[in-house]
Amino acid sequence: MKRFITPILLSVATIASAQTNLSETQTTPAQSAGTPVLQIDAGKVTGKASPTLFGLMTEEINFSYEGGIYGELIRNRTFKSSVQSPTFWSAVGDVKPVIDTNQPLSTALNLSLKLDTSKATKESPVGIANGGYWGIPVRPNTTYHASFYALTKDFSGPVTVSIESTNGNEVLASATVSRVSGGWKKYEVTLKTGNVKESKGNRFVLKTTKSGSLFHKNGTVWLQNVSLFPPTMNDRPNGTRPDIMHLMGDMQPKFLRFPGGNYLEGNRMSERFNWKETIGDVTKRPGHRSPWGYWSTDGFGLLEFLGWCEDLHMEPLLAVFAGYTLDKKHVEPGPALEPYVQEALDEIKYVTGDAKTTKWGAQRAKDGHPAPFALTYVEVGNEDWFDNSGSYEKRFAQFFDAIKAKYPQLKVISTMGYEHPDQVVKSRVPDMVDEHYYRSQEEMMAHALDYDKYSRTNPTKIFVGEWATRVGAPTPNMAGALGDSAWMTGMERNSDIVLISCYAPLLVNVSQINGRDRSMQWATDLIGYDALSSYGSPAYYAQKMFSTMRGDDILATDSQNIPTREWAPRANRGGTPPPAQQIREVFFVATRDSKTGLIYLKVVNASATAQKINIQINGANVAASGEAVVLAASSPNDTNTLEEPQKIVPHTEKADGLGANFTREFPAYSVTVLKIQTR
Ligand code: AHR
Repeated sequence: MKRFITPILLSVATIASAQTNLSETQTTPAQSAGTPVLQIDAGKVTGKASPTLFGLMTEEINFSYEGGIYGELIRNRTFKSSVQSPTFWSAVGDVKPVIDTNQPLSTALNLSLKLDTSKATKESPVGIANGGYWGIPVRPNTTYHASFYALTKDFSGPVTVSIESTNGNEVLASATVSRVSGGWKKYEVTLKTGNVKESKGNRFVLKTTKSGSLFHKNGTVWLQNVSLFPPTMNDRPNGTRPDIMHLMGDMQPKFLRFPGGNYLEGNRMSERFNWKETIGDVTKRPGHRSPWGYWSTDGFGLLEFLGWCEDLHMEPLLAVFAGYTLDKKHVEPGPALEPYVQEALDEIKYVTGDAKTTKWGAQRAKDGHPAPFALTYVEVGNEDWFDNSGSYEKRFAQFFDAIKAKYPQLKVISTMGYEHPDQVVKSRVPDMVDEHYYRSQEEMMAHALDYDKYSRTNPTKIFVGEWATRVGAPTPNMAGALGDSAWMTGMERNSDIVLISCYAPLLVNVSQINGRDRSMQWATDLIGYDALSSYGSPAYYAQKMFSTMRGDDILATDSQNIPTREWAPRANRGGTPPPAQQIREVFFVATRDSKTGLIYLKVVNASATAQKINIQINGANVAASGEAVVLAASSPNDTNTLEEPQKIVPHTEKADGLGANFTREFPAYSVTVLKIQTR
């Protein structure tokens, strides 16, 4: 399993062909004395800022969908998580539920749960219980939608569906299906809570008692697709969890990279993201094991990703399976790869095709969404630098040619970024390359100016498709936010060439971060949650500041006397550590809204002391009063948690004393967006 990616500087070739952007020509000597000076040349626009710089990256990791944004509350609803036993289900009363492969509901859901109800009595019902994803969340005066498929033999009678406290002492909502009998049928009920307290220590129960009635017999019941949904975002059927959706929406992301990540590739061919098996009725979706070690029902499939995009006003950035799996096997380019190329073309058609005139557009309409989705970017594979065979060059070319032939307007992304200089694709000119950077705070700071050196004439643009300062678990702390912010100043200043970027991983269920069947597979994730509530990390708030406050003109900046600290980089895989170096502790970027003249000056002070910085602005008249949005902490270890979700959040203050030349103090460990009105 891929874990940590060693950062490599931009390739020599890239640097050699580079022209300096002139927007940040800081050649500050180490350990400078004197007041730091920051200059903005408002008369010099170095480039147009990308309006789509910030997006979201997602895959099924850390219970991101199931146990995360997917509304489904039942864990292992299809009983396919393990064929040996119904994991995450427990028996209620005198019964031993077993997996039965002889009574499938469908080809996809090719097994069911068998329940012998013969020992049920009035006093002691029998059934099954599910504890959800670390609890079933309950809110007052809320309607839940429960459903299940059942097949019976010698059974005909009522089945009670309820949400109750884990010890069974308190029933929080309950409803009864009066008669379950005969062949496979879907049964549905609504469960309404009253004025109960918000809680998550609950379970879902499905049970039956012995009835004296002539028509009621206690025999065998088979169950499949046992489901429970709370209210969802925009009331979408099979929809998403509103609190996490709102957190993401507040970042105003412009695109969603999906479905991975490793989740796109899978540990083996049978476990890749096979999009055709993730659409339509959920009982037709077989599900598959995620490379992150748990079962996915694929209830959250291709159309659900697109619905997520629609709800948050983002465009999909579609990653298509490119014939490479994590067991290091690949499909040979040429005829053998052709079916996968066709699969990708069909997928693009499903997303964008006309509902009346195309097969896959019509399928999407049948699945509930007649209108096509806008699509700009298609990425071919994921992290193909792990494919040591070198097959990506030809695999990419085959996908690239086929996609461009049918969809010349689409931008095709190669997964070989310049951080892997020897592997970049040569036979085609990708519209964009995807670079991935998981780094320590110091590494992020040391590399924050890398893109200043990137060629302005290279037609291939940059997508930073995964990046994060990996400090803090389960979610990043303030040190993480500072490393990220330093890095974001570099991306924003160079967003004429770094057109899009997305942090990874985005989501983590923090209910059980260690041990068997844990909820976290990858530490340091932007947004955390349990069954009931969610929170943004300090890095989340920093990113929200960058994403929501910026202009469209990138302004030239320069600086002197920037404070630095010594950093001893780690050795690369057992090698000799590189010599210690001085790294900057203050980072900045200035953009301006060309319509209003408002300058957004972002200043990151990663040092342990407040910094008085002299700011000089020429080329514009500067208003004396503005606004500052400040995210600050008293320690780099400070963080947000479920218990203290708002410990580190930005605050807004009036900024006075601004002008062509002014000095402002930036707190220790802080990220500031200074809004300066000019004309
Ligand atoms: O973001 C976690 C993982 O990191 C992704 O699945 C993979 O693309 C990368 O190695």
